[in-house]
Amino acid sequence: MNVERIAELKKQRNAVILAHTYQPGEVQDIADFVGDSYGLSVEATRTEADLIVFCGVLFMAETAAILNPRRKVVLAEPTAGCPMADMIEAEDLRELKKEHPGSTVMCYVNSPVDVKALSDICCTSSNAVKIASQLPESGEILFVPDKYLGSYVAEQTGRKMILWNGFCPTHARITPDSLRHAQQEYPEACTMIHPEAPPESRTLADKVLSTGQMCSFVQKDRHTEYIVATERGLIHTLEKQNPGKRFYPVSDQITCPNMRKGSLEAVRKSLEGTGGLEVTVAPEIAEAAKKSLQRMLDMS
Ligand code: 13P
Ligand code: SF4
Repeated sequence: MNVERIAELKKQRNAVILAHTYQPGEVQDIADFVGDSYGLSVEATRTEADLIVFCGVLFMAETAAILNPRRKVVLAEPTAGCPMADMIEAEDLRELKKEHPGSTVMCYVNSPVDVKALSDICCTSSNAVKIASQLPESGEILFVPDKYLGSYVAEQTGRKMILWNGFCPTHARITPDSLRHAQQEYPEACTMIHPEAPPESRTLADKVLSTGQMCSFVQKDRHTEYIVATERGLIHTLEKQNPGKRFYPVSDQITCPNMRKGSLEAVRKSLEGTGGLEVTVAPEIAEAAKKSLQRMLDMS
């Protein structure tokens, strides 16, 4: 019922549905575009739709609204936030910048808009290494808010980085013990881990990849089994894209409660105008944040 109604309302409203790969399978299945944080931000710049219904968390819908201010953006599940994004405020970054004058501020998109506005450049997990390696080599990089992604970028680039103490509570639950346990159970599987996971777990994996990179990697890789060390929603995406392969979660603990809130009912209500949260960003903050986001798009 919801599925047919959604298709009908989508036409009536000239709407597009964008969904992150961590969303529940039923939501991914009705979306026009399913992708990672980077892919969704690019898609938001391209769409001609009047209404973007965003199935993900607040910072993603805000990014879409900033990059495409002429479109109405509705976050399907109004209470879906990101605890990592909430681990830093604009005032924290102002203080940090005072302590490190002359540094370049690199801001993971999983962050509040006013933090993006105070930053020099944004990144997602798929382009963070590429962007850091293009920044001037002379100064240090202040990386906010994810200390684990930041430490991975520092390892990969050899750049001097000052890290904020934020982290993703979901990926922090990928412990070395849980990984070893999964690896014992599936000895033939290739282990892929997201760079938001802690360093001591990353070192046990075969590949460190963002969600988008996991999708591309599996399509050309020779393995037939994979341990997927990230939010379990990605397993639905991978299974659809690779019907002959098998994917195993590290444990059933690796779920993002905010991404799990996604539902067909929330999408339908957003299209009907009876639910969802219209996302708007104050113009002066949006303008400054857009510069950091645009630099990211240009350097990716
Ligand atoms: P990517 O979509 O960049 O892989 O990031 C994962 C994530 O945690 C999004 O919230
Ligand atoms: Fe935030 Fe982690 Fe959930 Fe991504 S998986 S939305 S970083 S809490």
